[in-house]
Amino acid sequence: PKPKPLRIMISGAPASGKGTQCELITTKYGLVHIAAGDLLRAEVTAGSENGKLAKEYMEKGLLVPNDIVVMMVKNRLWQPDAQEKGWLLDGYPRSYSQAKALEDLGIRPDLFILLDVPEEILVERVVGRRLDPITGKIYHLKYSPPETEEIASRLTQRFDDTEEKVELRLKTHHLNVEDVLSIYKDLTLKVNGNLSKDNVFAQIDSALKELLEKKNAASAT
Ligand code: AP5
Repeated sequence: PKPKPLRIMISGAPASGKGTQCELITTKYGLVHIAAGDLLRAEVTAGSENGKLAKEYMEKGLLVPNDIVVMMVKNRLWQPDAQEKGWLLDGYPRSYSQAKALEDLGIRPDLFILLDVPEEILVERVVGRRLDPITGKIYHLKYSPPETEEIASRLTQRFDDTEEKVELRLKTHHLNVEDVLSIYKDLTLKVNGNLSKDNVFAQIDSALKELLEKKNAASAT
């Protein structure tokens, strides 16, 4: 039988590098990237009722209520592409109750990646972050500058990427992180996120390789 596709969760403080690593992971492993923050920002941009409500919480660095987030993520996980190719869940679950909602459906990842970055580094990463609205690519003015003048001229900044707001986002992260970790203790891989993005990826890549080998071996017997 064909081995089951990979199911990975990635977590970490704001600006710890989740989105950056997800880009590298999906390119190599072909998983479907499901980012709770991106799903929410799409609602905000669309101006839907959920989007309007979500924005009020996002601007305060608080968790958006579960009745918006949980359904949104569940629906995306059930899509055929995620079922066939496997998924990479980014920024969800962010609380005990969100994790529990997946546990109750029997959804458990193969691996729970935690990016570990010292707090003083995070603020600089947030303030320097820029996004390309055309390709969706994440840049940093100092650590990952745009390749061309044309790209540089169209870069945008997220509405919650100010020093003041990142402090609030960090507080929310600290309030919840231990609860989430307690559910995935046996599946957690703590990765040093305070290295170059390629060196961070090398740690993740070797864990994923090993996982895939195990899955292939298991399905061959
Ligand atoms: P979300 O969009 O998930 O934001 P976040 O968790 O704050 O994380 P970020 O997207 O800011 O950072 P990242 O870790 O992806 O870092 P990146 O790779 O971009 O959530 C936003 C809001 O939505 C929340 O505050 C909440 O309100 C709501 N929300 C989301 N999920 C929710 C949920 N489950 N429930 C309820 N509410 C929810 O990197 C950051 C910068 O650093 C970039 O500029 C990058 O180029 C640079 N960088 C990356 N890696 C490196 C490196 N190794 N070295 C140097 N620079 C690097």
